[in-house]
Amino acid sequence: MQINDHTPTPDDISWVSDEVAAIHERNRQRGHADWCGHDFDFTCPSSVTYPFQWFWDSCFHAIALSHVDLQKAEAELKSLLKNQHSDGFVSHVTFWQRDAYEEMVSTYAIAFRSRYLSDEMQPPLLAEAVSAVAKRGRGVEFINEVLPAVKRFYEWLHTVRNPYGDGLVRVVQPDETGIDHSPVWDEIMNIQDEEHESWDRGWHSICDPYDKFDRDPKKMIELNHFVVADVMTNTIYIENLHVLADLCQQVGDQAGHDEYQARAVKARKSLDELCWNEEDGLYYGVNGKENKQLRVNTFMCLMPLLLPDLEKRKADLLIARILNPDEYWAKYPIPSTAMNHPTYRPDTVGGNLVWRGPSWINSNWYIARGLKRHGRNDLARHITNQSIAMVRKSGFREYYNPQTAHGRGAPDFSWSTILIDLIHEVK
Ligand code: GLC
Repeated sequence: MQINDHTPTPDDISWVSDEVAAIHERNRQRGHADWCGHDFDFTCPSSVTYPFQWFWDSCFHAIALSHVDLQKAEAELKSLLKNQHSDGFVSHVTFWQRDAYEEMVSTYAIAFRSRYLSDEMQPPLLAEAVSAVAKRGRGVEFINEVLPAVKRFYEWLHTVRNPYGDGLVRVVQPDETGIDHSPVWDEIMNIQDEEHESWDRGWHSICDPYDKFDRDPKKMIELNHFVVADVMTNTIYIENLHVLADLCQQVGDQAGHDEYQARAVKARKSLDELCWNEEDGLYYGVNGKENKQLRVNTFMCLMPLLLPDLEKRKADLLIARILNPDEYWAKYPIPSTAMNHPTYRPDTVGGNLVWRGPSWINSNWYIARGLKRHGRNDLARHITNQSIAMVRKSGFREYYNPQTAHGRGAPDFSWSTILIDLIHEVK
């Protein structure tokens, strides 16, 4: 397929900017929550299916908003941090207006810390979000306002979710990676078919046993049935430790800077030692204290391309996979599961399991930036241009068919607006 590596046109840029601003206005949730006594002001992922505040969605939203509305961008992150727990943990869903949506909540498979706050993490791109908002906005002033809470969150990850001391963060259930239904989890979750009921049963088989320990993290990890160092989550973690180190430096916190850099170096080394598979030429997540690799070919295996210090040999191997028309080089890349994997389903429709084939704009954002970092801005631009084409054809949807660009899942899906940042990156 021809590489479409022209610079995004001024017309594309202004059209996308207008759409981004409009979606964040339509999906904005503002109000007061009596249950915690705080006001809230954030963009929900979708007013149709996800009216609450999700952790990593909000980080993507803030980055997109930093290009079009700094006041909203700051409010997004401040709302996210308002209900941070005393141990530093930030829930992956804050159910600000839960009482108005009781029926909808009953359909979610989610673990709770309290009635309004979940007991799950999501990929930790908070530092990146703060950095983007500070860079285009109030700089050090904004960093100083949020940094103590941001540091507490990364301390929680380090102390609670790094149980083996290798520096890698472990997730204890699939949805903590944000890639809920990926076929990577099928074996551990004993998924027999592609029905939601099967996934829900698998989710309960992982999560119900945690309840008898009141979800005490130590005991959940000791159970050793789902303790995954996921490649994508850890690539994002490593990237964010570097960004956090930089934020510390900007406000003169040299000790913080040095500590986070050291953590990033350690996690980076472990990622290579545990997750790289020389035979397959891919990175895989590992499960349990035995560090068993989960050998399923999905876009997550390609994520370490984001790391600037990835050695050239490995970067080249991953890039070759992206360019392989049997795996990831679809007309509208990048499919979430390799096209030659038996679980690949390009046309996920409402109610099906997600992350099994369709292309998503947030993973494109990460992988295209990784390609640029490894000297392939031509491919980064191609992915950006094809993403623009998907959005022009089908609107800002949750995900897209990689062959046809048909939009699926929620309409007006807010994190797809991260496209605006990608456009600026590859210009
Ligand atoms: C789905 C996605 C998850 C996302 C959430 C809200 O559950 O898999 O990553 O955070 O929707 O958009």
